[in-house]
Amino acid sequence: MKKLSAFVLMSALGAALSSLTFQALAQKSSADAIAEYRAALQDGNPADLNAARGEALWRTARGPSNVSLEQCDLGLGAGKVKGAVTKLPRYFIDAKRVMDLESRLVHCMVTLQGFKADEFTTKTAFSGEGQRATVIEDLVAYIYDESRDMPISVPQGHKEEKAAYARGKKIFFFKGGPYDFSCASCHSQDDKRIRLQDLPNLTKPEPAKAAFAQWPAYRVSQGALRTMQWRLYDCFRQQRFPELQYLSQTSIDLTTFLGVNANGGKMAAPAIKR
Ligand code: HEC
Repeated sequence: MKKLSAFVLMSALGAALSSLTFQALAQKSSADAIAEYRAALQDGNPADLNAARGEALWRTARGPSNVSLEQCDLGLGAGKVKGAVTKLPRYFIDAKRVMDLESRLVHCMVTLQGFKADEFTTKTAFSGEGQRATVIEDLVAYIYDESRDMPISVPQGHKEEKAAYARGKKIFFFKGGPYDFSCASCHSQDDKRIRLQDLPNLTKPEPAKAAFAQWPAYRVSQGALRTMQWRLYDCFRQQRFPELQYLSQTSIDLTTFLGVNANGGKMAAPAIKR
């Protein structure tokens, strides 16, 4: 019942947002209005439903091998979920590489459940318009939700972790494409915006912490839970770069860069976004 009324409230607020924003513009910035709107929704975040489904999926025997993910090691030992994402991406000795949550999940779905690695692409991992959430999206929501309010501490002890950070940093500042954009073109100044959206300055500690802490997030405008892989995929599109491949080294390196810069922040994902 609480969930249902939260949903009704959300739709009503969603419909009212544009007019509300305009009315409020005289007194306060639209960014403040959006921040208030988000705070009002956080209580009934529809990502709770993704997380509930994700928890059930985690425990359900699936795939050709018909086993659950309960033996999946996200870095803290088999089956340990709480706190795992605060230390991701990290180096995994069994895979001999640095992995973010989504690549680690796919690794477990392949090695434990018998799925094929090439089944996982942006087409199958990200839900399309009007489609229900994918298994990956629900699992990601559950696993992040288990680390809510815990401090971010993405490791840099292993040389591969340091290398991932260094490459991620390079990619962040690498300019290219038809507009000669880098990530930094949109994300390294204060008080920049595109349409109504503030562009966080990801080169400063506080906005970098907040941005990393809030993904994955439920996107109200898309009615969908979106993962960090999706966030980066969509920023590549905005940057007019070639399509970012799902779980590519580039995506993991960038996530490592963003994560290490967010160390000391507090996990708040899945958050809710416009
Ligand atoms: C053309 C401008 C543009 C470029 C280039 C760009 N982004 Fe973004 N980015 C955006 C916009 C716009 C948003 C916010 C969208 C929203 O809130 O709806 C965003 C949001 C984000 C967020 C989430 C911030 C938050 O608080 O929710 C992250 C993280 C991010 N971008 C990382 C990157 C990275 C890494 C790159 C380089 C691969 C990049 N962006 C390139 C426009 C850009």
